[in-house]
Amino acid sequence: MKKSPRKLMIAGNWKMNKTRAETRELLRPILHDVGQEREISIVVCPPFTALGEASQLLDGSAIALGAQNFYPAISGAFTGEISPDMLRDFYVSYVILGHSERRQLLGEKDEWIAEKVACAFRHHLTPILCIGETLSERENAEQDAVIRHQLEVGLSQISPEEAQQLVLAYEPVWAIGTGKTATPEQAQEIHALIRHWLSEHFGQEIAKKVHILYGGSMKPSNAADLLAQPDIDGGLIGGASLNANDFIALIEIAKGI
Ligand code: PGA
Repeated sequence: MKKSPRKLMIAGNWKMNKTRAETRELLRPILHDVGQEREISIVVCPPFTALGEASQLLDGSAIALGAQNFYPAISGAFTGEISPDMLRDFYVSYVILGHSERRQLLGEKDEWIAEKVACAFRHHLTPILCIGETLSERENAEQDAVIRHQLEVGLSQISPEEAQQLVLAYEPVWAIGTGKTATPEQAQEIHALIRHWLSEHFGQEIAKKVHILYGGSMKPSNAADLLAQPDIDGGLIGGASLNANDFIALIEIAKGI
C-alpha cells in the first residue's frame, strides 16, 4: 500500500478526438464501471465541442470534467477562443495548460502559460500544468534545467494558497504518443526534483499537497510500476484514455496501489 497524503488521479486527455456520439459511447461503460469511484480522482478532458455532452452524462457521477485549453480573458474580441467562464458554464473544473503539443505546434511560451495558470485559479478552474523536456534536451542532459525553468516561469504568478491546489503533469515529450515510456526510475527522479522545487519555493507542507501526474504512453501494462513511485500521484493519459476498457483498467490499477 502506497503511503501518500495524496489521492491518486487518473486524467484522460482526449486531445482532438471524439464527436458527441463517440463521447457517449466512450463514457457510458466508464460511468457504469467507475462512475461512483471516489478512492481515485477521475477526470476526463474532451474537446470543447463534446463538453456539453460529457457534462450531461457525468452529472451526478464522481468523475470530474476538464478542458484542454482556454484564453485568459473573460470575454471580448478573441476570434476562435474560449473563456474560463464559458468552461465553468459546462461545469468544467480542470483545465490542461501548457501541453507540449500546444507549446510545439502553436508556439505557446512559458510566460503565456503562466498567465493562463493564474487566470485559471481566478476563475475557479484547477490547472493541470504540463511540463517536460524534448528528446534532444534529454540527450544533452538538460532535463533538470528545462523542468526548473518551466516551473519558475509557469508558476511565477500564483500564490502559495493557489499552489497547493495545483496539478502538475510531467510529460517527457519523447514519450508522448510514441509508445516509449520513461522508466519508473527516470520518472520518479524528475517527480522528486519537481517536489523539491515546490518545497523550496512554496514550502514543504504545500509541496506535499501538489499532485504530480506522469504522462507519456502510460497504459495498463506499464501503469502499476509508475504509479507505485513515491512522487507519482497519477497519470495524464492520452491514447489509452480513448478506449473505455483501458481507461477503466488504469483506474483499477491505481486503486490497487
Ligand atoms: P499519450 O499522451 O498517453 O498518448 O502518450 C499523453 C499526453 O499527451 O497527455
